[in-house]
Amino acid sequence: MYRTHTCGELRTEHVGTKVTLAGWVQTVRDKGNLVWVDVRDRYGITQIVAEDGTAQEVMSTLKTLGREFVVQFTGTVAARSSANPNIPTGEIEVKVEEVKVLNASLVPPFTIEDDTDGGEELRARYRYLDLRRNPVQEKLRLRNKVALETRKYLDSQDFLDVETPVLIKSTPEGARDFVVPSRMNEGQFYALPQSPQTFKQLLMVSGFDRYYQIVKCFRDEDLRADRQPEFTQIDCEMAFVEQEDVLNTFEGMVKHLFKAVKGVELEEKFPRMTYAEAMERYGSDKPDVRFGMEFVDLSDVAKGNGFGIFDSAEAILAINAEQCAVYTRKQLDALTDWVKRPQIGCKGMIYLKCNEDGSYKSSVDKFYSQEDLAKWAEKANAKPGDLILVLSGDLDKTRKQLNELRLHMGNELGLRNPNEFKPLWVVDFPLLEWDEETNRFHAMHHPFTSPKPEDMHLLDSEPGKVRANAYDLAMNGVELGGGSIRIHDRAVQSRMFDLLGFTKEEAEAQFGFLMSAFEYGAPPHGGLAFGLDRLVATMGGSESIRDYIAFPKNNSGRDVMIDAPSPLDNDQLEELNIKLL
Ligand code: AMO
Repeated sequence: MYRTHTCGELRTEHVGTKVTLAGWVQTVRDKGNLVWVDVRDRYGITQIVAEDGTAQEVMSTLKTLGREFVVQFTGTVAARSSANPNIPTGEIEVKVEEVKVLNASLVPPFTIEDDTDGGEELRARYRYLDLRRNPVQEKLRLRNKVALETRKYLDSQDFLDVETPVLIKSTPEGARDFVVPSRMNEGQFYALPQSPQTFKQLLMVSGFDRYYQIVKCFRDEDLRADRQPEFTQIDCEMAFVEQEDVLNTFEGMVKHLFKAVKGVELEEKFPRMTYAEAMERYGSDKPDVRFGMEFVDLSDVAKGNGFGIFDSAEAILAINAEQCAVYTRKQLDALTDWVKRPQIGCKGMIYLKCNEDGSYKSSVDKFYSQEDLAKWAEKANAKPGDLILVLSGDLDKTRKQLNELRLHMGNELGLRNPNEFKPLWVVDFPLLEWDEETNRFHAMHHPFTSPKPEDMHLLDSEPGKVRANAYDLAMNGVELGGGSIRIHDRAVQSRMFDLLGFTKEEAEAQFGFLMSAFEYGAPPHGGLAFGLDRLVATMGGSESIRDYIAFPKNNSGRDVMIDAPSPLDNDQLEELNIKLL
């Protein structure tokens, strides 16, 4: 037996017990005839002590130990003369009688401590060492708990866990596919699933009624803090449901997860907002509603004063940063530089300080009188001491930019409390989205999403105005999940492919299997998928999902630990019948 107890287990009730522990050396303190070793495992840290009476060979072995050696200690538990209140085992220590080095360790490239001295790149290269650190293990424990509670909840609601294939044909979820060459089918490729979308719909056709899967999805897209090329979905589908049934079921799941995992009671009924309203009030389809600072349209009070930029702008939108009139020139310049960065792309920013004395100071005083500016303040509901920030230009772009600025100000002003959780269903997404580049419509969610019946008449005349039975769950500015009620009728599905610019042949070649299935008794169905990584990161109070994934990729999609992706050797390429350009 390697151990009788873990390193986090011993308490005063064990005093006098002979125990064997195994773990990693955290620290060694050598005071000559007194040596302390802290030994660590997943469960905690225990202090081992050797003193005058300790056998000489044990003492000399202890003196050879270095950080991260794997060791086994046998000894007797004793009460500590000075307890350490910071750790659960702090009232005891183990008086060592035997020690065995199970494996030595090189000096680790960074300290394995809560606050490590290792930079991101170094920790990524030695991820297996980074994963020994407590804060990192904590995050994966949280992930485990969330996944476990998800299964419990969905099982209690009659969902069946069904696995779907990974080597498939392309599914259009809006990103590029990762592809895998087939050796047995020369010149042909599988695609890795961007999601199991078509399979879960087929499972509904097969009568499974309620399906779920905690499943890896793969998308070749530009990476960000909340995007990884391979990520995990809690993927769900239900038959004989309307939107209301789906929202209720998964509101229940999210409430269960927060309660069971974090002890947090979320709002009894999650608020809902239409996509149109979310865009108007926050410029985002996943608004962070933990704080106000809603958009104000200044068009009618800021146009026509000879300020060319505003006069020619499609939109003039503002936010009110309360109590920020104290911002100095330097701070305002810094904010202006921030919005001008290429990631945001503004040409400039206009500000209006509402001074405590009731006067106004703006960056466009030349064009606007105090009375004019008072109208801006009134529109923005600004009080003396507030600061109004204004962006203008094309409507869609300005909304996006002001959303970024709003979130940035929220961060600056400490309004985005990571321990507060505000869910919001965003509903009534548009069915289609016009793409300037390709000059055609794209499905905003995916091509299997059903139009709202009351908007069906617009499909031919004004397809851009058709709303979908599609919904997202946003929380704290993150899109946690999304889904829709699906099309289950062959003719409607086929019409949808037409709208998206597929020829009949293309639609048949890519999705013939699904449309055929719809001809054999497809029940009405719908569902959604949560991003597990995002859900866990949000619950952990972080915007970055990478820390919540055991072996994540970096921003260039590389795993720097195993050094992937990497070239294939010629034999392998030849076998696959592939020639590189
Ligand atoms: P969607 O594309 O909205 O819907 O994805 C569902 C959820 O998956 C998460 N997600 C990601 N997480 C990390 N990295 C990524 N690259 C990434 N991409 C998406 C998000 C998102 O809300 N088949 C549909 C679902 C359905 O209609 O039922 C789908 O995949 O949290």
